[in-house]
Amino acid sequence: MNIDYNRTMEEIQKLKKEKNAVILAHYYAPDEAQDAADYIGDSFYLAKVAKETDADIIVFCGVKFMGESAKILNPNKKVLMPDTMADCPMAHMVTKEKIADMRKRYDDLAVVAYINSTADIKCVSDVCVTSSNALKIVRKLPNKNIFFVPDGNLGSYVRSQVPEKNVILNDGYCHVHHKMTAKRALMLKNEHPDALILSHPECRKEVLDISDYIGSTLGIINFAGESDKKEFIICTEKGVGYTLRKNNPDKVFYFDEEKFCVNMKMNTLDKVLNVLKTEENEVVIEDGVREKALSALDRMLELAK
Ligand code: 13P
Ligand code: SF4
Repeated sequence: MNIDYNRTMEEIQKLKKEKNAVILAHYYAPDEAQDAADYIGDSFYLAKVAKETDADIIVFCGVKFMGESAKILNPNKKVLMPDTMADCPMAHMVTKEKIADMRKRYDDLAVVAYINSTADIKCVSDVCVTSSNALKIVRKLPNKNIFFVPDGNLGSYVRSQVPEKNVILNDGYCHVHHKMTAKRALMLKNEHPDALILSHPECRKEVLDISDYIGSTLGIINFAGESDKKEFIICTEKGVGYTLRKNNPDKVFYFDEEKFCVNMKMNTLDKVLNVLKTEENEVVIEDGVREKALSALDRMLELAK
């Protein structure tokens, strides 16, 4: 830890107090951003925090759809992104035209948008979900036909767990999780036979099929913390390793270290300080878009209760 790190952190803490700001960080954000954060969590937890906070400024160490969701849920707050280039490629892997076309094909269609989607896609969706509540929400929907967008892997997991619904898949994917293979996880398992495999549902079916636990980033963290086992092979972005190792110094976690989210890693400490100082990179959502997208997010918060 060098002097610049400490000085930057001190300045951040001071500015946070002066401006009544909070810092939210996803588990995939760099360790240093997690250190600076008031709240660290999975997408669902952070959306709830964003809705409920009474801070004037929210600095979101995540990717664009997270900042947008925070602004949609809490329009009177200033939401700042440390780096406006931090975006989730998967969020753009479905179009409004494709959704409109699917609606024409099925009378009774619910469009379920993974929160990893653009504000425009949320506007034409019936409900949002995250990886921690997708199963619960899809089960509760009255509709038989579900178009799950944009993540085909999470959609396929939902389809396998909720067989009473007709879950129609889209071909989007997260490039970080999609590149993880069962072969690689089994190689690690071969080296560490006592280890449990814990996976995020954005992984492909072949990985989920060999997993001992499947859940969101927070779900994985909770499961590992509560387990009696000492070793775990983690199939998700390596950023969660920071919290896993901090919470469980007696346990060992194995990752595929080469697979990481470059967008999440853009949230460096100097950029956090910069936006707190300058109040640049504010998330702006048009009113018309906000109202429509809010309805899908609010329905998620309601159905997830
Ligand atoms: P969760 O934190 O909801 O598990 O989401 C994972 C993810 O890919 C966020 O971009
Ligand atoms: Fe998107 Fe995948 Fe990065 Fe999450 S880890 S922000 S889904 S690219």
